[in-house]
Parts: sequence; C-alpha cells; structure tokens
Amino acid sequence: MRNAQEVARFVTGHEHERVIAIDGPAAAGKSTVARLLADRLGALLFDTGALYRAVALSALRSGVFPEDEQSLSQLARDAQISVRPPSVQDGRLYDVWLNGEDVTWAVRDPMVGAIVSRVAEHAAVRAALLPLQRKIASSGPVVMVGRDIGTVVVPDAGLKVYLDATAEERARRRFREAAERGSTQSFDAVLQETLQRDATDSGRHTAPLRPASDAVQIDSDGISVDRIVAEIEELARAGRDAAGRPLWPS
Ligand code: CDP
Repeated sequence: MRNAQEVARFVTGHEHERVIAIDGPAAAGKSTVARLLADRLGALLFDTGALYRAVALSALRSGVFPEDEQSLSQLARDAQISVRPPSVQDGRLYDVWLNGEDVTWAVRDPMVGAIVSRVAEHAAVRAALLPLQRKIASSGPVVMVGRDIGTVVVPDAGLKVYLDATAEERARRRFREAAERGSTQSFDAVLQETLQRDATDSGRHTAPLRPASDAVQIDSDGISVDRIVAEIEELARAGRDAAGRPLWPS
C-alpha cells in the first residue's frame, strides 16, 4: 500500500490525467504489463517502440543506413504507421501496420532489434514521431509504453511508472519469447543486444532513457506480471480529477 502523500501525487486535473506512462529498458515486461493494465482499465494500449521499430524496418527495406539521419527522418515522416488492437490471436499484444501492411511480427525480427536504437538516437527521427504520439496521448484514456513518455512525450501524464529488471532477467525473458516463436538466436546474442540497446538508449543526447523524477519505480525481478499489474492498477485507481472524482472508476 502507498501512503496518502504518495497517492496525492496522482491527484491531478489536466489534459493528460488519463494517460499512464510506462517507461523502462528493453524487455522489462512493459508491453505485457501494459496490455493487461489497459484491458483492466478500459484504456487503449499504445506501444511507442513499435513506431521506432517500423522506421527501422522501413530503413532496412529501402537500404537506408542507421547513420543517415536525414533519410531516416524522411522515412519517419512519410511512413503511415499505426498501432492498434490485435486483429489476429497469434500471441500478439497489438497490431503494427506500416504503409498498409501488417508488420507486427516483421518489426520483432532480430535484424530490426539490431539497429532500432541507432535509428531512435537521431533527434530528427524522434521529432518526426512526436506529433503522432502526442495526438494519441490527447485522444483519450491510454497506457503509453516507451523510453521517454514520462520525460518528454507526456511529461504531465497522470501516472508515470518506470519498470526495470536486471539485464540477465530481461535477456532471459526475451530469449524465451523469441525461442517460442522459432528464433535460433543464442542467449548470449540476446543478452549482448539487450546490453547494447540499454547503452545506446541511455547514452543518447536526445530524450535518453531515464526515469522521470516523479515516476514510481518498479523492479520486476522475481515479481509476477499479475502483481505488477495489480500494483499499477491500485495507483491508477487512487487518482482523482480536479473535482475529486476517480480518474479510473472501477
Ligand atoms: O520491446 P523492447 O523493450 O525490446 O523495445 P521497444 O519498446 O520495442 O523499443 C525498441 C527501441 O525503440 C528501443 O530500444 C529504443 O531505442 C527505441 N524507443 C525509443 O527510443 N523511444 C521510445 N519511446 C520507444 C522506443
């Protein structure tokens, strides 16, 4: 249980009071937790990582190098990307569409994972993807997942969570998921990619990965997904609007 002071931090009264920001490093379990939480709260789930992955996929397909900021930002501006509720029951948490094509699984390809952080480092790419993210944030109750939601995209989100776990634990989870989908990547390769992505995401100049000063930090090592979802749900339900009504009535 949180004490009254902590809960008071979520008494809000502004445009994004019904946005829940979940940030954290690669494979911390953000998307799984966010899917369950969004379903319980009747909110939309918007995983912003899918946007960066879609741009990285587009770059791979059109032969644009991860260093080529100008071409990448052009790709990001031209791409029609949408992230929406799952249309197929094949284990996906949401659909990702790129220029009229379902790329939900294509964006999870290890080749995309290998370059996505280098694509996401560029300020111009991030700027190109910002309007869509802000539009979603303003469109209604939403659980938004990413690296910089609480710090840059929606700094006035009603609730901010930073979900973390050790690199080994995160790599183990990612390795299991990938193996279930038939991937032949070794555990070491998955761990190296996780560490590499952490370093690039935390070390970049624009919108580096870090917890917002008012984020609730949750370490998910050894804690079940259900417990994490329950904890965040409890925090969300404690939130009140300016008139004192619950932001997320049960
Ligand atoms: O699912 P996973 O944790 O592996 O990664 P993701 O959320 O799909 O994000 C892929 C990459 O996109 C991250 O490693 C970041 O480089 C970038 N990203 C970002 O820079 N900002 C966001 N808001 C979301 C993702």
